[in-house]
Amino acid sequence: MKEMTQQHLINAFGGESMANMRYRHFSNQAEKENFPNVARLFEAIAHAEYIHAGDHYRELKHLDGGFIAGSKGTFGPGKTAQNLKLAVEGEQFEITEMYPVYMEVAKLQGEDGAYRSFHWSYQTEKKHKELFEKAKRAVDAGNDVDLDPIQVCDVCGYTLEGDAPDNCPVCSAKKKQFRAFVDNRRVTRKTP
Ligand SMILES: [Fe+2]
Ligand SMILES: [Fe+2]
Repeated sequence: MKEMTQQHLINAFGGESMANMRYRHFSNQAEKENFPNVARLFEAIAHAEYIHAGDHYRELKHLDGGFIAGSKGTFGPGKTAQNLKLAVEGEQFEITEMYPVYMEVAKLQGEDGAYRSFHWSYQTEKKHKELFEKAKRAVDAGNDVDLDPIQVCDVCGYTLEGDAPDNCPVCSAKKKQFRAFVDNRRVTRKTP
């Protein structure tokens, strides 16, 4: 594998791994603040980042040993409003800088497997940003977010709100590959 694409895969594995961990912590914080749907959204998207990390990791199975991952993370956790701001910023960076560059380099270097893995993440992070922005608008107004089931493709991590499609629009996986994150509690709304 070409060295530059390989380093990008290592970096992307690092970035997705950190995002998974951040969102799990953010989910716990949202739970404490009585935003169960925001907690569920963080839990679902943490799972999607786990899928992304795994996809990148599998592209690196030719390696053997230790490497430094150079990945941007967003730091400064706090209340859920702040955590959603960090989440939107992290997704924004991935959509506008990281994955477009990684995809371009992988294409130039003829690294098809890496390109596919970056492309799957890129398509997904756009949805993540939208969902986090929706949650942020609700939380900024003092409410939990109204949220239908969140579906995550176990192959490419693609994430959507609503019913699982017959085929994943990003990787074409079948409906049964989608994992649903469903509201199983009564939603309590904070009074304004
Ligand atoms: Fe994401
Ligand atoms: Fe998929």
